[in-house]
Amino acid sequence: MQIDLSGRTALVTGSTQGIGHAIAVGLARAGARVVVNGRGEERVAAAVRDVRAASGSDDVTGAVGDLATEEGAAAVVEAVPGPDILVNNLGIFGSAPPLEIDDAEWRRYFEVNVLSAVRLIRAYLPGMKERGWGRVIDLASDSAVVIPAEMIHYGMTKTSLLAVGRGFAKDAAGTGVTVNSVIAGPTHTGGVEGFVRELVGDELPWDEAQHEFMVKYRPQSLLQRLIEPEEIANMVVYLASPLASATTGGALRVDGGYVDSLLP
Ligand SMILES: NC(=O)c1ccc[n+]([C@@H]2O[C@H](COP(=O)([O-])OP(=O)(O)OC[C@H]3O[C@@H](n4cnc5c(N)ncnc54)[C@H](OP(=O)(O)O)[C@@H]3O)[C@@H](O)[C@H]2O)c1
Repeated sequence: MQIDLSGRTALVTGSTQGIGHAIAVGLARAGARVVVNGRGEERVAAAVRDVRAASGSDDVTGAVGDLATEEGAAAVVEAVPGPDILVNNLGIFGSAPPLEIDDAEWRRYFEVNVLSAVRLIRAYLPGMKERGWGRVIDLASDSAVVIPAEMIHYGMTKTSLLAVGRGFAKDAAGTGVTVNSVIAGPTHTGGVEGFVRELVGDELPWDEAQHEFMVKYRPQSLLQRLIEPEEIANMVVYLASPLASATTGGALRVDGGYVDSLLP
């Protein structure tokens, strides 16, 4: 399979680190003009430099904006008026005892993880439909399907994103624009190594440590290791490509078999 995204512009939200960063690199390697996003000038500028270096492409720029706010989203839309590919990667997560999550925290999770995506879809989908080609990809999680008791607010946002993707795919029916979600499983991003070491200790080399962590604490995983961000990015790059033209309204799993179900 040859994936060629030359001539396409892609905006990846929340891409100064982690999975978003890997997606930005993957899309740039495939030839897309890539715009990275985060909340601060410095981190966005550093990410632009990193993505250029990792992809070998100079066609990488940044758009600063806090997408959890209307003003931040408006600033990003002004800077990036008509992307062909929108990757709603931005997402925050954390654990909290369910009965202690107050209204403000429920709202914050909804604003950051769901409304940020909805705002950008609303801004960009009409142009994609008019041009007869476009890709919207939302980053969901295994927590959308298997709601963790200590992350109900996070799980709620990821289930919502599946609904948002399915609904907007219907809005885009027959236009050449596809809308899909990617269900990512436990991934090797910043901070995870420390978390793994806290639980299994410092003695084992990393590969064995993460294997022990997965077998003991994430036994549902069939992969028995963390997923690398590039493995999520590969699915996103494929979905963003013309090759994925018949996949829309779907939720595709890159979860290492974590969700014990045949569907989605
Ligand atoms: N990591 C996992 O194991 C895992 C598993 C399943 C699904 N996911 C999903 O995958 C996505 C990426 O996760 P990750 O672990 O790579 O995240 P991460 O490492 O925490 O990175 C989050 C990114 O979002 C940016 N950001 C945070 N708030 C923002 C805002 N209001 N506006 C714009 N940018 C903002 C951050 O940039 P600045 O700080 O520079 O603003 C950063 O680049 C999320 O949707 C997450 O739910 C992750």
